[in-house]
Amino acid sequence: MKQPALAAVLLLALLPTVARCLSTNETEARLWFTEFDAKLAVEKNKVVEASWANAVNLTKENAQKVVEANLAHTEFLREQRAEMRQRFDWKQFSDRNLTRLFDKADDIGTSAANASMQERYGQLSTQMSGIYSTAQVPHPDTGKMMQLDPDITDALADPNESERVKRALWQGWRDASGKRMRQNYTDFVTMGNLMIREAGYSNIAQYWQSWYEPRPGQNFTDMMAKLWDVALPFYQQLHAYVRRKLRDKYGAELFPETGHIPAHLLGNMWAQSWFNVEKLTTPFPDLSTVDITEKMNKLGWNATKMFRVSEEFFTSIGLDPMTDTFWEKSVLTRLPDVKMVCHASAWDFYTNKGDFRIKQCTSITTNYLGTTHHEMGHVQYYQQYEKQPVLYRRGANPGFHEAVGDTLELAVMTPGHLHKIGLLDEIIESKDYYLNYLFQMALQKAAFIPFGYLIDLWRWQASEGRLAPEKYNEGWWKLRCGLQGVSSPVPRSEDDFDPGAKYHVPNNTPYIRYFVSHFLQFQLYEALCNISGHNGPLYKCDFYQNKQAGDALKKFLAHGSSLHWEDVLSELTGTTELRADSLVRYFAELNEFLTEENKKSGERVGWDADCPSADWYTTTTSAPETTTLAAGRAATSGTVGWWAAVGAAALARRLLAV
Ligand SMILES: *[C@@H]1O[C@H](CO)[C@@H](O)[C@H](O)[C@H]1NC(C)=O
Ligand SMILES: *[C@@H]1O[C@H](CO)[C@@H](O)[C@H](O)[C@H]1NC(C)=O
Ligand SMILES: *[C@@H]1O[C@H](CO)[C@@H](O)[C@H](O)[C@H]1NC(C)=O
Ligand SMILES: *[C@@H]1O[C@H](CO)[C@@H](O)[C@H](O)[C@H]1NC(C)=O
Ligand SMILES: *[C@@H]1O[C@H](CO)[C@@H](O)[C@H](O)[C@H]1NC(C)=O
Ligand SMILES: *[C@@H]1O[C@H](CO)[C@@H](O)[C@H](O)[C@H]1NC(C)=O
Ligand SMILES: *[C@@H]1O[C@H](CO)[C@@H](O)[C@H](O)[C@H]1NC(C)=O
Ligand SMILES: *[C@@H]1O[C@H](CO)[C@@H](O)[C@H](O)[C@H]1NC(C)=O
Ligand SMILES: *[C@@H]1O[C@H](CO)[C@@H](O)[C@H](O)[C@H]1NC(C)=O
Ligand SMILES: [Zn+2]
Repeated sequence: MKQPALAAVLLLALLPTVARCLSTNETEARLWFTEFDAKLAVEKNKVVEASWANAVNLTKENAQKVVEANLAHTEFLREQRAEMRQRFDWKQFSDRNLTRLFDKADDIGTSAANASMQERYGQLSTQMSGIYSTAQVPHPDTGKMMQLDPDITDALADPNESERVKRALWQGWRDASGKRMRQNYTDFVTMGNLMIREAGYSNIAQYWQSWYEPRPGQNFTDMMAKLWDVALPFYQQLHAYVRRKLRDKYGAELFPETGHIPAHLLGNMWAQSWFNVEKLTTPFPDLSTVDITEKMNKLGWNATKMFRVSEEFFTSIGLDPMTDTFWEKSVLTRLPDVKMVCHASAWDFYTNKGDFRIKQCTSITTNYLGTTHHEMGHVQYYQQYEKQPVLYRRGANPGFHEAVGDTLELAVMTPGHLHKIGLLDEIIESKDYYLNYLFQMALQKAAFIPFGYLIDLWRWQASEGRLAPEKYNEGWWKLRCGLQGVSSPVPRSEDDFDPGAKYHVPNNTPYIRYFVSHFLQFQLYEALCNISGHNGPLYKCDFYQNKQAGDALKKFLAHGSSLHWEDVLSELTGTTELRADSLVRYFAELNEFLTEENKKSGERVGWDADCPSADWYTTTTSAPETTTLAAGRAATSGTVGWWAAVGAAALARRLLAV
């Protein structure tokens, strides 16, 4: 009796494996993988080549080539996945590294869906990025058509431009961009979820969050909420201080009693960086602030010089110089006589021969000096992990890739360093001088944090179906008012679609990576400063020429995504946690100062959770112009033209870093 029973059990246990003929032979798997990896590099290279050709020369033909390359690429991924699923039982491998690689090869995202779904998804994407990149807005006085870059951007940044014109452009941009893609975006959400289910995820939000590899018991969204909680008190102080200064400049009648700052007064279309209101808000206006735009121009710097200066910082700590191909093929200034995508980006061509490039329409400003370091940080990552299998040529998580260049930027922008490289004649060693400096950094780095958070909070809600399409804009403003403390200068409704007025939404680029990066970069900066033996306030640390710091950074980057990000992080910083305390330490003196000043002036710290009521807009003097502005809506052409190109580029965007 015993024996037949045992045999039956054995047979049952063996059946599934036998029936599928799955191999657990790791030697064989490694051989298969090596071949796959080589083919993958070639396939990716084709997509990137096509996307580049298009991005620097937007034409219909070039756009079509991107679409074709993308379709071929998704087909390749589906084929390879099918083959590997037929042949290997990789979960049983004893080599964890090999299992990790197979898991990554198996996880092909929306490429899992069939070609007809790819095509429809691509059309929606093309439509939306086309609307975004061709949107134009008439100037409220002259009627002259204006583009976002540089015309509208400059007008919002200009402290001398009138509130009336800023408001008109703020609304006009949203009429011409987001509003026109509302239905397309709704369809896009439905479509994306349908496609990602083929890959085993319940929705796009879950898929995007999976890139952060939450460990058992870990909850990614809670982790993000915790970071925000720690940063919030400082953000509130900064917000209150800036609000008071702007109210002095623009008049109290424009500011609702709810405590929100009207979003068009912060110097940026999305109020994501407040750098441009520095002159209006700086604590000690009489003390020379660090204005290096003027200095760079006086010294005759051009784009090449800015990139050389950035490169020199990297090589000074022992990282690699840019390759010959980089200097040969990068596009560092706007090309004449072609339409091109100017949004700065860094590109890995997967050639194993040092083909990395940056495409950036550089102008000689402080902002672009920062962007230059940011993009070059991406290239350094590419260089350091070039020897890894293609599937590991990624940041440890997406936030890591965004943090590298910014970490160096924190050192480069110190007055001490700017002096060393000839951009600053004198440093005034006073507390007030450094408060001005910290304030300038806070307007860029701290002001960004709630914005960096809310974009994907909104997209997760939409993707998970917690926010109904009929409430898309209401949900958006709940976050803008509630988290960021800014309000719309004009009434909003569900005829509008304000998320679509931000590049990353129509172009389907995840955003939480920038939020992660804004904490991580301070953590990395502090760790490298510690390694370099820095003494004194964190914000004065410059690890220029420090080889120990460079070696540590090199090792950190070379891992790519071969390890879980917690392990990569702890090797450098000693903690597995993303933490806000380095950022808090960096800004501590400014926080103390702002808290004191807000107390002295009696300024309310914080704001209501809810946006100003509809009544406020009708009783205030701030909205007389909405009717004339309606004309702005029709300002863009609805035809599919060369701009189809831009949408096609969006399809390939997951392959590169922006
Ligand atoms: C595993 O595969 C390799 C390469 O195909 C082969 O040489 C080896 O004999 C296989 N090992 C086993 C135990 O089947
Ligand atoms: C731009 O692309 C078109 C093909 O669509 C090509 O004919 C043209 O030569 C390219 N222009 C430049 C400057 O490369
Ligand atoms: C993981 O496996 C791949 C493929 O065999 C190999 O190229 C890579 O060096 C391995 N990485 C580690 C960290 O063992
Ligand atoms: C593609 O997949 C969708 C969803 O599963 C399905 O409805 C459709 O029929 C498929 N199309 C083709 C051509 O296989
Ligand atoms: C996008 O939406 C518009 C209507 O708002 C519609 O005419 C167009 O066909 C849509 N595009 C796609 C690709 O579905
Ligand atoms: C704004 O106006 C002031 C005073 O007229 C002038 O000094 C300054 O250069 C102007 N700023 C800009 C950015 O145009
Ligand atoms: C994470 O926690 C939130 C509550 O804070 C919960 O709503 C969500 O479902 C959790 N996510 C996962 C993946 O467990
Ligand atoms: C920048 O100036 C140098 C000479 O100082 C010149 O060789 C180079 O071509 C210029 N680069 C650009 C992008 O204008
Ligand atoms: C840097 O050193 C300080 C002082 O020893 C320590 O408190 C801090 O945690 C260190 N930070 C990092 C990121 O290593
Ligand atoms: Zn980036």
